[in-house]
Amino acid sequence: MKTLLQVKSSIFGDQGQSAQLGAVLIEKWKAAYPESAVVVRDLVADTIPHFDMSVISALMTDEADRTDEQRAVVALSDDLVNEIASADALIISAPMYNFAVPSQLKAWVDMIARNGVTFKYTENGPVGLLADKPVYILATRGGMYKDAGLDHQVPWLKQILAFLGLTSVQVIYAEGLNMAEKEASLAEAQEIIASISV
Ligand SMILES: Cc1cc2nc3c(=O)[nH]c(=O)nc-3n(C[C@H](O)[C@H](O)[C@H](O)COP(=O)(O)O)c2cc1C
Repeated sequence: MKTLLQVKSSIFGDQGQSAQLGAVLIEKWKAAYPESAVVVRDLVADTIPHFDMSVISALMTDEADRTDEQRAVVALSDDLVNEIASADALIISAPMYNFAVPSQLKAWVDMIARNGVTFKYTENGPVGLLADKPVYILATRGGMYKDAGLDHQVPWLKQILAFLGLTSVQVIYAEGLNMAEKEASLAEAQEIIASISV
């Protein structure tokens, strides 16, 4: 049985365009794999703590010496990594906030990027440890920034995913959502979703 993981990060929840485009892609996935499971990680409804000293201390403390609080932090990080490792494909519903990703999505990345777990350094440089799998990024934004030097959302996401081993990334853009282009842009994104093979 296949598993699809959707990571949602819009503060508008299911009303967000990134989540709604994700829902269209999920329907397509379910049609292709009727027996599949869909796991949803909503980073806004279920907030992940910012990566701070307590988190890094928990990760760096030997398992046997961890406090209950530290065990809970490491368990959350392990769960997030295992969700990705267990999935056959990922949907990342990612709005652009202030030229970058929502802080909730950044917090998720900070929690899954773990030396020795999802990447390692070798004499030839860093190597991602996650098994590659299809990743669909649903990139929504109010303005038009595709391929412009001002986009710190999609290039950054692709960079960190590749760093962790996930290089089979397809980006579906919905741009100009606060502009006159909104409806045409959403229709185009839906057409792209309809045309991709999952
Ligand atoms: C806090 C915040 C910051 C935003 N910053 C940008 C931005 O820098 N550039 C942009 O084009 N749109 C920006 N937007 C607009 C969103 O990207 C746009 O509304 C998009 O549809 C949000 O995706 P969603 O519908 O999935 O929430 C911002 C929206 C919010 C709420």
